[in-house]
Amino acid sequence: MARITASVYTSHVPAIGAALDLGKSGEPYWQPVFKGYDFSKQWMKEHKPDVIFLVYNDHATAFSLEMIPTFAIGTASEYAPADEGWGPRPVPKVIGHPELASHIAQSVIQDDFDLTIVNRMEVDHGLTVPLSLMCGQPQAWPCPVIPFAVNVVQYPVPSGRRCYSLGRAIRKAVESYDEPLKVQVWGTGGMSHQLQGPRAGLINKEFDHRFLDRLIADPEGLSRVPHIEYVREAGSEGIELVMWLIARGAMSDQPPRVAHRFYHVPASNTAVGHLILENT
Ligand code: DHB
Ligand code: FE
Repeated sequence: MARITASVYTSHVPAIGAALDLGKSGEPYWQPVFKGYDFSKQWMKEHKPDVIFLVYNDHATAFSLEMIPTFAIGTASEYAPADEGWGPRPVPKVIGHPELASHIAQSVIQDDFDLTIVNRMEVDHGLTVPLSLMCGQPQAWPCPVIPFAVNVVQYPVPSGRRCYSLGRAIRKAVESYDEPLKVQVWGTGGMSHQLQGPRAGLINKEFDHRFLDRLIADPEGLSRVPHIEYVREAGSEGIELVMWLIARGAMSDQPPRVAHRFYHVPASNTAVGHLILENT
């Protein structure tokens, strides 16, 4: 049977991708950000999964205001990096896992979560920046990836509670797949940031640290935080954090091992947070 071995949480700031692609990761501004992922890149080599189930949000790249799925699962065999205005990032194409993705879709939809099935899409910084942070600049990504897009861009967005329960349904789906695959679930986006309006630039370190503490030790309680609290405390784009609860919900009910924790401000307009939790 397949099993979930670990979960990874990280911000996805697009400027991080640009810094890496343009060879600026050693500059004084970026050096402390990338340093926080030195451990993670080594950890990825030592804990190479067979598949990454990558929860992220699309930023009006694959989807637009014309069509807004709340939860969309990628069942394609590959995904091209999107052109987000400066040309597509010079990163490898993302290879999918149609068999496991279809199995998860079947199981999770029959478990009463309405997923949109996506057989063709491009992926933006929400998905490629976490891969770059965790894997560096390889010729090919280390394993297949199942993209799982969550709408946190256009209201109404799903609640943390629903995201957490969905994570549990994903765990059940993975554990009923009849092949001995090691699967990691990644929750991406966040932490506190607001990109527009009078509060643009908002960062809330206290909220972020408490979020990390509770994600580790009290995910059930954290899942009850209403979306308005994310927006008030962590900024309009801080709502991206509900996606971390999907990954956390997919973990075992036993307390996880905290393999790595990192927090840094600033990176572009965003507080960068990062956790690696292992199932024990
Ligand atoms: C920034 C952060 C984001 O999450 C995003 O999607 C775009 C920009 C930023 O910090 O600049
Ligand atoms: Fe974003």
